[in-house]
Amino acid sequence: MFDLIIKNASLPDGRTGLDIACAGGLIKAVEAGITAEAGEVIDAQGWLISPPLIDPHFHMDATLSLGTPRMNVSGTLLEGIALWGELKPIQSVDDIITRALRYCDLAVSMGLGAIRSHVDVCDDALKGVEALIEVRRQVAPYLDLQLVAFPQDGVLRDPTAMDNLIRALDMGVDVVGGIPHFERTMADGAASVRLLCEIAEKRGLMVDMHCDESDDPLSRHVETLAYETQRLGLQGRVTGSHLTSMHSMDNYYVSKLIPLMVEAGLHAIPNPLINIMLQGRHDTYPKRRGQTRVPELRDAGITVGFGSDCVMDPWYSLGRADMLDVAAMGLHVGQLSSRADMAWCFDAVTVNSAHIMGLEGYGIAPGCKANMVLFQARDAIEALRLRAHRLATIRAGKVIARTAPHCVDLALPDRPATLDPSDYAPG
Ligand code: FE2
Repeated sequence: MFDLIIKNASLPDGRTGLDIACAGGLIKAVEAGITAEAGEVIDAQGWLISPPLIDPHFHMDATLSLGTPRMNVSGTLLEGIALWGELKPIQSVDDIITRALRYCDLAVSMGLGAIRSHVDVCDDALKGVEALIEVRRQVAPYLDLQLVAFPQDGVLRDPTAMDNLIRALDMGVDVVGGIPHFERTMADGAASVRLLCEIAEKRGLMVDMHCDESDDPLSRHVETLAYETQRLGLQGRVTGSHLTSMHSMDNYYVSKLIPLMVEAGLHAIPNPLINIMLQGRHDTYPKRRGQTRVPELRDAGITVGFGSDCVMDPWYSLGRADMLDVAAMGLHVGQLSSRADMAWCFDAVTVNSAHIMGLEGYGIAPGCKANMVLFQARDAIEALRLRAHRLATIRAGKVIARTAPHCVDLALPDRPATLDPSDYAPG
């Protein structure tokens, strides 16, 4: 007797016609023709089942604050940071908790199973830290929330940021963050990377830095991040987020840099929606895209995950917790158009990001956690093309969000009466 059996599912790796049996919160079997009894049976009708979507880079302390206290008129990163500085003193812990929990509701409905959220520690009251630690506790039954201590105003540039960051880690924040390109000088940026990596090494933590989120080709803090990672033996535990300056770097320098990143076992998290919106703002024409070198990093062996970064906050007024939208933008901006490239973009918001976050038991295989999403699409590429409806989000073998398939009634002469958008899949 199983808790749940999903019949006739397709998997992201291309296998079709499989049943998935779950019990005790785990996947027990993935094979064709399972006939056992179950508390609930879902007929997937050949649609795609994948492990949950993962957002490896988000700012949950700012989300859904759009318009408070005002809009970002210029749309730039710097006005966003200034606006955030106006909002921080006037928001309460309860405000942050309320907004974050509403966002997590939306995220679950969109098939997310885990989020890595940065939390600003440049606030002596650490309201965001207190709020998101409480949110992490409350959502734990249905969403894995990993927190990064993020010194938004610069860990050296802001006079109390280092003390606050240490306090945040003592309170239970999971990962060490940073923002070297926002420090006063290149030298301070490099020093901040060294200090923060040393803190992570001493505490046995992972590192995830906003690194070189700039169009300045000489913003090379990722080089220091790679150096400190290998010096301190942190290989596999360190991520560079954004890395947009790599878009503008000299090709010769990049030919040296990427092998250093590989040597250090760095991971990379581009944030396609926000960076196509924010980068290249100082250009006339042609305007740079500002997305880091995604296929080149991938081909070198670096694990790349796409993050959403922002939803309805001082930096980005759109977004709906849709990691397929994020991946589709990364696909377009990176010109990742082959079938293999597009399928890889689905990996970038699922298995790759799960690896970066160090999630255990992630996947569709016996022994994995019974956490899954059912899409109204036949395969991963169709899911991206359609931004497919998430028909069910499953956590520990239970359906925690469910929606009816999208179907349109047509009133056209001599044409079908209904239309299912997922029926347009090739083959
Ligand atoms: Fe960010």
